[in-house]
Amino acid sequence: MAHTIVAGNWKMNASKNAVTKLLSELKLGVAAVNNAELVVFPPFPYLAQAQAELMGTSIGIGVQNICASAKGAYTGEVSLAMAREFGVSYVLVGHSERRALFAEDDAQVAAKYVATQAMQLTPILCVGETLEQREKGLTLSVVTSQIQAVIDAAGGASFANAVVAYEPVWAIGTGLTASPAQAQQVHKAIRAHVASIAPEQARGLKILYGGSVTAASAEELFAQADIDGGLVGGASLQADSFLAIGQAAK
Ligand code: 13P
Repeated sequence: MAHTIVAGNWKMNASKNAVTKLLSELKLGVAAVNNAELVVFPPFPYLAQAQAELMGTSIGIGVQNICASAKGAYTGEVSLAMAREFGVSYVLVGHSERRALFAEDDAQVAAKYVATQAMQLTPILCVGETLEQREKGLTLSVVTSQIQAVIDAAGGASFANAVVAYEPVWAIGTGLTASPAQAQQVHKAIRAHVASIAPEQARGLKILYGGSVTAASAEELFAQADIDGGLVGGASLQADSFLAIGQAAK
């Protein structure tokens, strides 16, 4: 794998002052992150500020959600063309909070993935099982069916320009992290599923782990064969913990 991606999903947390503080601290610390690409995912109102503050740095910008439609009468939505004007290169699609709280289904997620690639941006496709599904032994079937919905819509070759994030719902914001072995098992199954349709793309595919990643858990997670980085929520809101996760990439 070329490098590790450490993505910071701020969710609905920010203020102008907090963004200035966090980004200036990240800029100071990023030189010590040698083996990871750092990407921040601010809420939409802070994209212009992030673009201005991160200009000329190696820190990338992504958005947490996007509208699959190009323009027009979609009150409250933000288009890919708009995001791209602010230096965005990654788009989260299908985050479990979007699926659970905003009723996004596999078809909508696939449409967002396709639209993102059509604008030459990189989707980060989020998949993951609930606790109930895990306890019923459905983890691998749930995750592979979420991946398959995108393969059906976009084809296996599309994974050449995509990232996958495995985020077990029960590990998000709970302090419960999947063990490195639990995560590796699912990441390996995701790569194998993509490989069954698109072997070459599967080899290069980056699969991030998300769910209560901290500086303490990151190193062992990133050492797993099929874990290529992290999608970090809470620990991405403080520069010291986010940078330490970046430094955990060896
Ligand atoms: P936490 O790191 O806060 O558990 O959030 C994970 C997540 O949902 C990132 O997208």
